[in-house]
Amino acid sequence: MNITYHEASGIFSLRTEHTLYQMQADPTGHLLHLYYGLDTGDGMDYLVRCSDHGFSGNPYDQRANRGYSLDTLPQECSVSGTGDYRISALKTVDVHGSRSAELLYDSHRIIDGREPLEGLPYVHPAEDTQTLEITLKDPVIGLKVILLYHVFPETDVITRSGVLINESSTEIVVEKAASACVDIPYGTWDVIHFHGRHCMERMPERQRLGHGVTAFGSRRGMSSHHSNPFVILAAPTTGENQGECMSVMLMYSGNHLEEMEVDQTESTRLVAGIHPDGFSWHLGSGEKFSTAEAIISYSARGLNGLSQNLHELIRKYVIPEPFRKGIRPVLLNSWEAMYFDFDAEKILSLARSAAELGMEMLVLDDGWFGKRDDDNSGLGDWVVNESKLGCPLSEVSKKIHAMGLKFGLWFEPEMINEDSDLFRSHPEYAVTDPGRKPVMARNQMVLDMSRKEVVDYLYQAMTQILDHVEIEYVKWDFNRSIANAYSSALSAAQQGEVLHRFILGTYDLLERLRSRYPSLLIEGCSGGGGRFDAGMLFYCPQIWCSDDTDAIERLEIQRGTSYGYPVSTMGAHVSAVPNHQSGRVTGLKTRGIVAQSGTFGYELNPGLLSDAEKETIRGQIRDYRQYAELINYGTYYRLTELEHGDFEAWMFVSPDKQECLVNVVCTHVRVNGPYPFVRLMGLDPQARYCLETEKRTFTGAALMYGGFSLPQFRGEDPAVQLYFRQEAI
Ligand code: GLA
Repeated sequence: MNITYHEASGIFSLRTEHTLYQMQADPTGHLLHLYYGLDTGDGMDYLVRCSDHGFSGNPYDQRANRGYSLDTLPQECSVSGTGDYRISALKTVDVHGSRSAELLYDSHRIIDGREPLEGLPYVHPAEDTQTLEITLKDPVIGLKVILLYHVFPETDVITRSGVLINESSTEIVVEKAASACVDIPYGTWDVIHFHGRHCMERMPERQRLGHGVTAFGSRRGMSSHHSNPFVILAAPTTGENQGECMSVMLMYSGNHLEEMEVDQTESTRLVAGIHPDGFSWHLGSGEKFSTAEAIISYSARGLNGLSQNLHELIRKYVIPEPFRKGIRPVLLNSWEAMYFDFDAEKILSLARSAAELGMEMLVLDDGWFGKRDDDNSGLGDWVVNESKLGCPLSEVSKKIHAMGLKFGLWFEPEMINEDSDLFRSHPEYAVTDPGRKPVMARNQMVLDMSRKEVVDYLYQAMTQILDHVEIEYVKWDFNRSIANAYSSALSAAQQGEVLHRFILGTYDLLERLRSRYPSLLIEGCSGGGGRFDAGMLFYCPQIWCSDDTDAIERLEIQRGTSYGYPVSTMGAHVSAVPNHQSGRVTGLKTRGIVAQSGTFGYELNPGLLSDAEKETIRGQIRDYRQYAELINYGTYYRLTELEHGDFEAWMFVSPDKQECLVNVVCTHVRVNGPYPFVRLMGLDPQARYCLETEKRTFTGAALMYGGFSLPQFRGEDPAVQLYFRQEAI
């Protein structure tokens, strides 16, 4: 049993292989958070202490007990207005305008398996997944809250979401409905969050949490390049390979907020969920609202251990089932090769060179539909531009398949250009404020995905193509932040629902397509990695990591991404030099090593390469095939700490520890510099590992404890890939 309830004490215990998450419905009916950490095998209620802290009031029934205050007790679902002055997970307004709520334990159920979350992405159940439903009620406003917990024992993950149900006869307005609320009563914590910008996503930044509120989030209508919906709390001494840390990751692709508060008692609260700014949801009598799912994990094995938990969970239980095994095709994408300047002949010649080099799929990027010769027009008109191509798309696809390649196609479904037939016939489909000129970005607007007819239109337009052209892959782009979040289909009172309804509409479209074409590989994208989140991963097993394809920049971007997401989800391509974004020239070997730690592909015109470069690429693809299983399903370790020196190193170890692949890329060549040195991780200390290139063997212990040094780096390709295999005994 991974979930237990102890009747006498009211303690709920959620157990994974190593961890324990504990709550208690105390005698007053409040649900207290007791503990989250390594399994103690004990009831942790002894940690809770009550004393009068002054200016922290008491629930009426406890007025004689001045130590009992919701302001100082650890809460499992903090609400506002009733004496807990810290950040709250839930804010409501009732029919009288009262902003107070108080949730009291009503009942619970422990169930084997789990139910899907209606309309939202969720972690698919493992064989031993159990569900805990705790029902809390506020009898005064008639609100029922069902907290849902699911346990994924082998990955040390629990998930949490909630359903709000209005049991009153009048409306309740929900102004905040967070997914997770974790109170940690003791200790000093650092937060690691992932900020960024277009072309530099998910940059880890670590800072000590001071008193008051620290918050990160997005108000862009998308999870964003600027702040990933994922935070880690780490003990000050925690590093990549030691120490304790925990994280909360949201399965949500829209506005989000992660708040941490250190209070008067030095306790830390972490609340994460949909961003309350601009959000309000009118919950009519009998209606329900589901919060997004939060993925919560704990590791006492440092940040690498935490990442490994999340990687395993995402690979096995988040991404769509058909993509949890096997290796995705090595692709050639037309974007940086040709941008908008192509016809069928050029695309076919690109495909021919892809096939010659051993690649497996040709992706036709932006520019094949409507009137779309640059990025100012055509979005919304998902009709093949046959006069640009010179033939039907089905013919292009047929010829590409005849070369032994798969075929992929770019879409940006949620967008509309002013200069499009769709806008001319349905201006109301665009998200705009009444009487105001909209904010433009890339000269485009967003479609009102909160309208069912818009989702229906897109479904119809996309299936029209996907039904008639042989297509194995779709790149699903999203190239602007949302502004003027107004829907002409909703009432004035409901405008605070637009951005969440937008995301629900997007999920609905993705879900419909996914069930119609279960083997279609959808790669998420949003100007690179602007919507790289666990919500999108539920539909799209891989996401284009960044529009920055410079290998040296990618080292940081892919490293930052790896804290939460496995390399098998990171779209990574070798592109041309000088790099189109940075102008830097990086050797082809380095570019290959970096892109191989992702869903591998190319984004260049092979027709412009020398024979020697083509030969190198053939070799890269051969190597990738050899290592692909290890890279995609092995255990990933960052070998350099966050504040590292002149090189970045990481490795993959096979689950049976038989083999490992170590990558070291120098970012700054030093004349007469020190020898690059790494300590390997995760090997069998007793076994001997052979390194072919050095023609010698090492014990796992030597490689892990003594480490491995490399010659000083020189030249324009300062990168090394080392493959170790256990010797048969
Ligand atoms: C975005 C994507 C790119 C490319 C272009 C096409 O920027 O991230 O990879 O598809 O759009 O317009």
